[in-house]
Amino acid sequence: MNNEFQPNVANDIRRIHSIITRALNVSIENIPSLRQKGTGVRDGFLNYLQCLATVINGHHLAEDEIGFPYFRDKIPEMPYDDMILQHKEMVVELEKVTAAVNAARGMNDISSSIASMPEALNSLFLLSGKNNGHQ
Ligand SMILES: [Fe+2]
Repeated sequence: MNNEFQPNVANDIRRIHSIITRALNVSIENIPSLRQKGTGVRDGFLNYLQCLATVINGHHLAEDEIGFPYFRDKIPEMPYDDMILQHKEMVVELEKVTAAVNAARGMNDISSSIASMPEALNSLFLLSGKNNGHQ
């Protein structure tokens, strides 16, 4: 019997981590060529980045406020406090991404607006990898 559509928290956590990792990879790969794209593609990609920042932030809030408290006594060996600290470090990088997206909206030359984006996205990728490695 196929249990693919049965509720499974472990599969859901793996799935959202895969989605976030892929979206960070797509973002990192496409940022260098973004300034040469037409405004339609650029605006769409800025929306993609804003959506990614929102998804990551929402996922971390759900883990910090619901997931970790639930699992803390069931899987006590997990470094919940370290993961919460990593989430806080990621908030700083997510704010950089959001600020860059907002600064780039409506600009003809977005070069200076997105200059900090590669570093912020790479930091998010590294922190996310560390954080997901615990789970
Ligand atoms: Fe997570």
